[in-house]
Amino acid sequence: MDLQTKLVVIMVGLPARGKSFLAAKLQRYLAWQGYKIKIFNAGNYRREILGDKFSGSDFFNPNCEKFSKQREEVAKKCFSNLIQWLKNNGEIAIYDATNVTPKRRNYLAKECQKSGLDYIFIENICDNQKIIDEIIGIKIKNSADYEGKDEKWAKKDFEERLRHYEKVYESMSEIPYIKIFNFGERIEKNFDGRTNIFFDELAEFLGNLRFIKKNVYLTRHGETFFNLENKIGGDSLLTDSGVEYAKKLADYFNDFDLTVFISPKTRTIKTAEFLKHQKIKLEELSEINSGICDSLSYEEIAEKFPKIYLDRKNDKFNFCYPKGESYKMLIQRIKKVIFEVERQDKNVVIIAHRAVNRCLFSYFIETAQNDIPHIEMPLNKIIKITPNKAFYNFEILEF
Ligand code: F6P
Repeated sequence: MDLQTKLVVIMVGLPARGKSFLAAKLQRYLAWQGYKIKIFNAGNYRREILGDKFSGSDFFNPNCEKFSKQREEVAKKCFSNLIQWLKNNGEIAIYDATNVTPKRRNYLAKECQKSGLDYIFIENICDNQKIIDEIIGIKIKNSADYEGKDEKWAKKDFEERLRHYEKVYESMSEIPYIKIFNFGERIEKNFDGRTNIFFDELAEFLGNLRFIKKNVYLTRHGETFFNLENKIGGDSLLTDSGVEYAKKLADYFNDFDLTVFISPKTRTIKTAEFLKHQKIKLEELSEINSGICDSLSYEEIAEKFPKIYLDRKNDKFNFCYPKGESYKMLIQRIKKVIFEVERQDKNVVIIAHRAVNRCLFSYFIETAQNDIPHIEMPLNKIIKITPNKAFYNFEILEF
């Protein structure tokens, strides 16, 4: 995905609709692809500038002129810092605030235009009371606004804050925009008649997100004959020990309700053989294409193609096998897998390959690009990735 101009992503929506969740997901997705991206959260600026005296619902009353003015000032300060950051060396900035009025949105659009920045509004619309209640619960527990406060009081206060916002809220008509309804129900987009592949991809990513906590289990296939010879690529069969691992996987997972994704290679198909679940084959899960080096061992590559061997050693992330792929290209290829995983409403098992799994892992667990090709990804182990407050945790399961 190519970005022509620096971009401001402007979140829109009532409190407790999951804007910050979407912003965090989007940040991870784009940082994973190598963009310099940062979230600017207006609530954090409010607490920093005004302190915690201004977090009660009264402060959000649109009829109180003094407080309205203060809120606008904080929002503008946050936005001007965002623009400054983009002018320095940032590429994409996410403005995480409610931005529920056309007046505010027009102001933000003009500021972007003045600075020669591209922008897009992302509105999160949610009328699913179950999700709203869950987010309110999270807010009360985790937001600095309610730290040390009685939970019942905090809930009442937050609901009052919500009502204040509802009085002035108007859904988007300013363009360009992407609207997300109830996390995956549907999306709507309007780019003012412009074709914009970048915005289309953002819409696709966001449209696939669900407000659901699920685990992702990543594993490589069982041991193959190629593994024994240290050969790469190919389409080798499993050894006895590989078949043993496939049976162990089934013992472990067969009682779980899961979606299972596998690559189209024989070694992952065979590894999934004893799982009772339906298996979804994704072409994108195939191992890194090693081009002219396919089916050679690392020793043979060093001997036959010493330059390839050295070049790869020097910059493994960017190195592209002649007639094959690099890790950088692999990340672009497996975006489709991320969409598939995100839109599942149950736990997911992925049986794939070393390089592919490294790239998938680095989407969930932030890893510097140059470190991605060196992530430990051994055979016979499962990496269990679980959601946590900040993003994800992982643990290694051994049999
Ligand atoms: O050796 C197994 C394998 O999955 C190969 O098919 C693949 O080329 C390689 O691992 C990827 O690992 P690395 O990038 O460290 O060579």
